[in-house]
Amino acid sequence: MTAGETAVAVAHPNIALIKYWGKRDERLVLPVTDSLSLTLDVFPTTTAVRLDPDAAEDHVVMDGVLARGEALRRATAFLGLVRERAGRRERAVVDTRNTVPVGAGLASSASGFAALALAAAHAYGLPGDAEELSRLARRGSGSAARSVFGGFVVWHAGDPDAPDPDRASYAQPVTDARLDAALVAVVLDEGPKPVSSREAMRRTVATSPLYRDWVTGSRTDLARMRAALRAGDMATVGAISERNALGMHATMEAARPAVRYRTADTDAVLGHVRRLRAEGLGAWATMDAGPNVKVLCASADAERVAARMREVTDARVVVARGGPGARLRRVTT
Ligand code: DP6
Repeated sequence: MTAGETAVAVAHPNIALIKYWGKRDERLVLPVTDSLSLTLDVFPTTTAVRLDPDAAEDHVVMDGVLARGEALRRATAFLGLVRERAGRRERAVVDTRNTVPVGAGLASSASGFAALALAAAHAYGLPGDAEELSRLARRGSGSAARSVFGGFVVWHAGDPDAPDPDRASYAQPVTDARLDAALVAVVLDEGPKPVSSREAMRRTVATSPLYRDWVTGSRTDLARMRAALRAGDMATVGAISERNALGMHATMEAARPAVRYRTADTDAVLGHVRRLRAEGLGAWATMDAGPNVKVLCASADAERVAARMREVTDARVVVARGGPGARLRRVTT
């Protein structure tokens, strides 16, 4: 692209059913384990990138506010990586708009860096297919690698002994899944989280006595989940998701100092999900780096599950289904 043109990309958040929790390489953002997620059809991020040959610095606006501090540092470091790969020097003007609360464990960094990776790669003329884009997005935020693709997606941790570990870690769509699933988000708290997921996972890996066992369990969980997705077995997919998420939270609660994202409201929603199951309605909970709960269920049950959630909480309840991968919306001059 030439100066003055604007690349606009849209990406959706994803929710992991088998979680990514822990890096083996901080700089390259290489995870300890494989993870598996569903890209959603709600809360998209739209990001516009334009090159400015006269600018001395990158200019990043997030939701109408000039980015500063850590958010600016991460965006600028990411743009620096794209420039290095593209062999370009121009600084960028970035305008990004989220429809999901930022930093509340609703995966804004996944949609954010997937959209930025696609728009920036296009603006700087960086070639590459979607797998390559997932490697790039990974460097911004690990979970962003998965938002490059739609539907169910697996992110390979990659062989630590591979000659090029960066190449070995990328995301791919799960093409043989035969399940129409939904995630009903119960948004208990839209505020930023007390500890960033980056810091929380660092602390967990370094200090939690439970971490090693969760890693081993996660490998088994992933293999079983892939088989259950192929078989269209909602109950098994749900059960594995819930125990993988609860296990991840247990590892961080055992870290020193402990990281606790769950609140009394979270536990009340988890109890309600268990009650729905006892009544015979297929619903399973998953939580990320925040107090919010996402309830996994068959797509056909989503409205019923949402209605039952609204009976017990005043929180915002949003029904999400499988959504698309990151895509370019337009390039304008
Ligand atoms: C709990 O991808 O936000 O949502 O790579 O440090 O940016 P960084 O972390 P991030 O972590 C997501 C953690 C999680 C689980 C998941 O999405 O797999």
